[in-house]
Order: sequence, then structure tokens, then C-alpha cells
Amino acid sequence: MVDPVNPAHRPHRRLEVLPDGETLARRAARLIGTMLREAIAVRGRASFALAGGNTPRLTYSELASLELQWAAVDFVWGDERMVAPDHEASNVRMAREALLDPLGIEAKHIHAPDVTLGSPQTARVYERVLRALDPREDPPRLDVVLLGMGSDGHTASLFPGGDELDVPASSLVVHSVAPVEPTARVSMTLPLLQAARNVVFLVSGPDKRKVLRRVLRGDTQLPAARVRPARGELVWLVDEQAFPEDEA
Ligand code: 6PG
Repeated sequence: MVDPVNPAHRPHRRLEVLPDGETLARRAARLIGTMLREAIAVRGRASFALAGGNTPRLTYSELASLELQWAAVDFVWGDERMVAPDHEASNVRMAREALLDPLGIEAKHIHAPDVTLGSPQTARVYERVLRALDPREDPPRLDVVLLGMGSDGHTASLFPGGDELDVPASSLVVHSVAPVEPTARVSMTLPLLQAARNVVFLVSGPDKRKVLRRVLRGDTQLPAARVRPARGELVWLVDEQAFPEDEA
């Protein structure tokens, strides 16, 4: 089902409701594949910001079986926990296991935050890495940003009430503190996320239903509701367990 955009009170976005987690992952992989192919066709390369958490793992496995010019894709992360790259909570580790290693992506196209520098410096250095990927644009425009959403409405590592939500437009990456372990994070900021050409939210499971209702109604107290690309496509891919029936 695709969301009947009601201009009265809903921000513009596309919403698709899939029957279950597996079909959600297959649909997400197909959509992301199309977006990456389009970016490569137009600009010769594509930048792909990966999401952390658990939900994207299935999508990464589906992506790993897609035929596309993967050597033309630069991989970055929307956020990372300040843990060692081989730590079980590392978003980089999860993406390597599910996507990058199976595809044999070369190290020069994998741009992970350097968590060994400590939070503030990691954010500063990562910002330079991201700017170098698209030096002609300020802020740089990522071709595809995949995001998840926590049951508190956070996305990337931008949390409700966090001062990382209100940063100057020039700030692309910030240190943030999560309410759950591991608490120390680095995260892309709203100005950077909103500059993206395509943002895809991936939401699955009944524990997201309550907060998804608030987000779909535009409750901007929730960071996930504030990611609305100014010049890009916003797509919400959710499964039936996460979708609030009264929003149908
Ligand atoms: C993180 C993620 C975070 C995640 C949500 C949803 O580092 O935790 O980037 O934003 O997408 O917490 O996580 P699940 O997919 O595990 O529900």
C-alpha cells in the first residue's frame, strides 16, 4: 500500500507497507539498488550511508545478492557506536559481515568513522571524510541514506531532546550520548541527512508502531520525523507489524 499523501497535515513522503520483515528487506534492497544504479549512471559513482541496529541486516544480505557496479559505490555510516570495529555492537562490523565482506568491497571504498580518535575528534575527522566525497556541494549530498528508527523515535544517533538536533547548517557530524549502552556515539546531523538525494527509512516490528504513528503525523519532537530531504526523495518502508492500522 502506498501512502495517500494528505497535504493537509503530512510532510511529503512515500510510504510502503510490506507484509513482513522478509518482503520488507527484499523491497528495500530492490529500491536501494535502483537508487544506486541511477546515481552511478548520472555521476559515475554513488555514496551510500548505511544504517546500524538490527533491522538492516536482512536488507544487507539481500543487497549482497544484487548485480550492480559495486566498485562505484562509496560506503559511509549514518552513525556509529564508539566501540572497537570488531565489537559486537559496532555498526561497521554488522555491515561488513552482512554486506561488505560478501561483496568483496575494497577498503578504499569503505569510509568508516575512526573510533580510535575519541568522540569529538572522530566527529571532526569524519566530517572531513564526508565533505571530500562531494566537495562541490555544501553540505555534501549523499545519494542514498538508509535509516532505522528506535522505539523512542530516534534515528541514526539523534535522540529526542538531544542538543545534537539543533546544530548549525555547517555541522555534518556530531558526538551524541545514547540513553542505552553503548552510550557514546557519532552521528550524521539533520543538515547532512536533509541534503541527501534519497532517504529510505526501514521500520519493522510491533515495538515501533506507537512511535511510527506519531512520526507519520509529523510530530517533530521525534528526530525521525525531522528528516525531510529538502531536494530529495523520502521513502518509508515499514512492515505490517509496525504500521498503525488507523493510519491506513
Ligand atoms: C544505531 C542505529 C539506530 C537504529 C535504531 C533501530 O546505531 O542504533 O543507527 O538508529 O537504526 O536504533 O534499531 P533496530 O533496527 O535494531 O530496531
